[in-house]
Amino acid sequence: MAPATLTELAGESELNSKFVRDVDERPKVAYNEFSNEIPVISLAGIDHVGGKRGDICRQIVEACEDWGVFQVVDHGVDTKLVADMTRLASDFFSLPPEDKLKFDMSGGKKGGFIVSSHLQGEVVQDWREIVTYFSYPVRNRNYSRWPNKPEGWVKVTEEYSEKLMELACKLLEILSEAMGLEKEALTNACVDMDQKIVVNYYPKCPQPDLTLGLKRHTDPGTITLLLQDQVGGLQATRDDGKTWITVQPVEGAFVVNLGDHGHYLSNGRFKNADHQAVVNSNSSRLSIATFQNPAPEATVYPLKVREGEKPILEEPITFAEMYKRKMGRDLELARLKKLAK
Ligand code: SIN
Ligand code: FE2
Repeated sequence: MAPATLTELAGESELNSKFVRDVDERPKVAYNEFSNEIPVISLAGIDHVGGKRGDICRQIVEACEDWGVFQVVDHGVDTKLVADMTRLASDFFSLPPEDKLKFDMSGGKKGGFIVSSHLQGEVVQDWREIVTYFSYPVRNRNYSRWPNKPEGWVKVTEEYSEKLMELACKLLEILSEAMGLEKEALTNACVDMDQKIVVNYYPKCPQPDLTLGLKRHTDPGTITLLLQDQVGGLQATRDDGKTWITVQPVEGAFVVNLGDHGHYLSNGRFKNADHQAVVNSNSSRLSIATFQNPAPEATVYPLKVREGEKPILEEPITFAEMYKRKMGRDLELARLKKLAK
């Protein structure tokens, strides 16, 4: 009988062919060959206008112009809350397959557990299991799709999502000000901001050089906060995949990624982080991504076009339309790749 979850496949000595990537997509840099190129920025003093705020803002803006990714420490999210969230999320993946599969979201359910998600129409799968929750707006919470095992996870997730929403809004204020706009500009452009949490579990992999935990992509939304353990595996590129760096894990830090929506609103000034996750044969890895996205009906169009620049979008579109076009492009690329084989 086929193994019910990816965790069982981790014990096999050879990688199942459905995870084997084309040579050009395979990892170029090891999961633990860390780089310190991505800035680690302390947010201590961020609320003190006239004090450190100016300096912190400069560092954030520079990182967004350069990579679209940076890490934050001293961010004010309680250490115990972060530890509880990590422990509970990690414990979920150690549950027996039948417990995890109670939350199976295949077949179009919104939220829950899924074994190795991949793009529809794409043959090769990612080496990861996920649990996902829709946490904002609160009216969209469907608690029947939030795993209640291990016990207490629902309550911790509620608090975690609230604190991360606050942190994301604080970072968006800085970017709005840097664009010469009112500090609420980016948050308001999201209309009624959505938040989705995705917990990624990457089991040990028998042949990690042949596969990816998560294929190269940019996040579609405004801003993403990623909590990762100390194993390593998140990689970024800023030259269209020619060179990659592995982000150095920093205890207690959040990795901040700017998404496509943030990129378009800044008229391309802030980069949308181009990233992927690689896996390894020594240890499993856990990461928790919290995506802040605009409402589906929110308008995507530059909020500010600097002198001498042209808008990078031809016309205003809704976020739902932007997402549809992005998925359409990805599917078309996957189709062409299949044809070229
Ligand atoms: C993500 O891009 O959503 C997750 C990346 C990671 O697990 O490092
Ligand atoms: Fe991502």
